Amino acid sequence: MKSIVAFAFLAVVISAVSSELHCTVKRPNIPNDWIDMVRPCVEEMKKQIQKEINASMKYLAMGAHFSRDTVNRPGFAKYFFEAASEEREHAIKLIKYLLMRGELVSGVSKLIKTSFDALPTTHWNNAVAALEDALKTEAEVTKSIRNVISVCEEPNDNSRFNDYHLSDYLTGEFLEEQYKGQRDIAGKISNSRNLWATMVNLENSCSIKNCCKQCKIKYSRPQFV
Ligand SMILES: [Fe+2]
Repeated sequence: MKSIVAFAFLAVVISAVSSELHCTVKRPNIPNDWIDMVRPCVEEMKKQIQKEINASMKYLAMGAHFSRDTVNRPGFAKYFFEAASEEREHAIKLIKYLLMRGELVSGVSKLIKTSFDALPTTHWNNAVAALEDALKTEAEVTKSIRNVISVCEEPNDNSRFNDYHLSDYLTGEFLEEQYKGQRDIAGKISNSRNLWATMVNLENSCSIKNCCKQCKIKYSRPQFV
């Protein structure tokens, strides 16, 4: 009997002590007057983060495609893998920007999880097709950044809050890189097409003159140019 009473007493003591020890971490009470971004602008930024992640996924697929043993274009594979890393870096920069402005304190994982659109394709007939696809993607991303700037300068709400800093950041850093990147891809398309045309011409001239079987072998049309 004594041991039952002692056990019950001990249980009560433990329960009382453990409820005392239970701790809750309260969010620090930080004033939020400094947080001045407006909702329409924040929402556009979130969409832009998702677009950057999607672009990264597409370039990752392109890098993998050109790495396959049956395709084997290591130069293009390297180029697209690097492009995938750059797009991922853009998403990180935008996330960091929102965090700097006191936004995105929750829901980051949901934002990233819901980012992925199914890729329309994971196969490209040749390098020119992949580069043209990449240029189209970049043009869409550029248009989207311009839209973020436009919304953040003149949000469709009552605030009339012109987010000069964000507009400046996106214009100076992101748009600058977009325009240079687009020009770079356009140049690569041009080079690839010229290379293709040169090879076709060489092949034709060899056949017409019937002069050089070796030449024909050397310059036979590559499967992926
Ligand atoms: Fe980007």
